[in-house]
Amino acid sequence: MSTSTFFCGITPNSSTPTFKNLYSFHHPIKTQPNSSKPSVFYQTRFNLVTASTPTPLESPPKSSFRDKPPKDINVLVVGSTGYIGNFVVKELVNRGFNVIAVCREKSGIRGKNSKEDTLNKLNGANVCFSDVTQLEILEKSIENLGVSIDVVVSCLASRSGGVKDSWKIDYEATKNSLLAGKSFGSKHFVLLSAICVQKPLLEFQRAKLKFEAELVEEAEKDDGFSYSIVRPTAFFKSLGGQVELVKDGKPYVMFGDGKLCACKPISEPDLASFIADCVLKPDMVNKILPIGGPGKALTPLEQGEMLFKLAGKKPNFVKVPIEIMDFVIGVLDLLVKVFPSLEDAAEFGKIGRYYAAESMLIYDPETKEYSDEGTPSYGKDTLEDFFKKVLEEGMAGQELGEQTIF
Ligand SMILES: NC(=O)c1ccc[n+]([C@@H]2O[C@H](COP(=O)([O-])OP(=O)(O)OC[C@H]3O[C@@H](n4cnc5c(N)ncnc54)[C@H](OP(=O)(O)O)[C@@H]3O)[C@@H](O)[C@H]2O)c1
Repeated sequence: MSTSTFFCGITPNSSTPTFKNLYSFHHPIKTQPNSSKPSVFYQTRFNLVTASTPTPLESPPKSSFRDKPPKDINVLVVGSTGYIGNFVVKELVNRGFNVIAVCREKSGIRGKNSKEDTLNKLNGANVCFSDVTQLEILEKSIENLGVSIDVVVSCLASRSGGVKDSWKIDYEATKNSLLAGKSFGSKHFVLLSAICVQKPLLEFQRAKLKFEAELVEEAEKDDGFSYSIVRPTAFFKSLGGQVELVKDGKPYVMFGDGKLCACKPISEPDLASFIADCVLKPDMVNKILPIGGPGKALTPLEQGEMLFKLAGKKPNFVKVPIEIMDFVIGVLDLLVKVFPSLEDAAEFGKIGRYYAAESMLIYDPETKEYSDEGTPSYGKDTLEDFFKKVLEEGMAGQELGEQTIF
């Protein structure tokens, strides 16, 4: 049997759970002194995992994990191979935490990354290959590590944004990581959500909101447990799609007058730093934290103007009426009634429409207005610097997800 059939990096013939047997680089996991489970560490094979309930920690930590130095704090990161998750792992590792990164054996967009690629990308973390969509398997994988968990950070997200996948990942798998973390002592949960859940019109937003509500309820029931819900504005990858086109002399395409929506984009390292702050900072506990990048909010028109200036090209805009999207969505909605398999296509149309018209800023449901000033800023990376970089180096590392929508 090959190594790839084993959980959490255990080699087939290993007889002792040494750090060498872990996919661990610089920060080996600290095993609980009283853990009674190290043997399963090297005995459990992927295909032998049963749906048993894990043994809870014999004595959950009494003192708060916040009193411990980072090197003694075990942080479980799910969604660790994503655009943001990958940076969150790096940031937590750099801050000295013991990071356990849960991954699939084939990770990345359309599973393009092998186990080796994943191990290289997550250098410094303890990599645990498991399945977040199956609670029993996830719990068994954590049990096999023989460690307690202090904090769970979730950067999970549906890679497609399709209806069923959103519920499976943004709700169910995220809930599994909450339950599995709590079974092994976790006292804090940091959730990467999205600012757009303020005005939920899409399935992935409803799935995220349901999980957010249950997370808050969990903290209300249990005083020893807390959360930080991070709701970022747009990511750079979502705004860079036209940089290379403009560089090649193509027009910049925008909806309406180019002022229908605005955002304060935040870079992956800045957001990862904000998320890492949530692990220990007491003022980020039990809060919903909307967050954008530095500077003022920018509309697509302003982004396009900035881009033409940086590229040294004469501004050339194509304005597409938003009604075209409404028409396409209307047709798809009708077709779904006859062909249910078109459900995701219709949802992708709605996602595109949403991003074309709704700002990624703080929203006031009473006035129905978005606020630039009301949206907090964090970090130092600007969209202008990002555009300059893409003009020079291209979009590598900024690829959109499976449906190239977000
Ligand atoms: N795009 C934006 O502008 C924007 C703005 C604000 C907020 N957000 C939110 O930010 C969050 C993260 O976004 P992102 O771009 O970092 O996401 P991403 O790159 O698509 O990463 C998703 C993560 O979830 C994991 N995942 C997905 N399906 C899985 C499955 N079936 N089993 C196991 N793991 C699975 C992926 O693992 P694999 O690598 O194995 O696939 C990956 O680690 C999302 O909630 C998004 O809504 C996005």
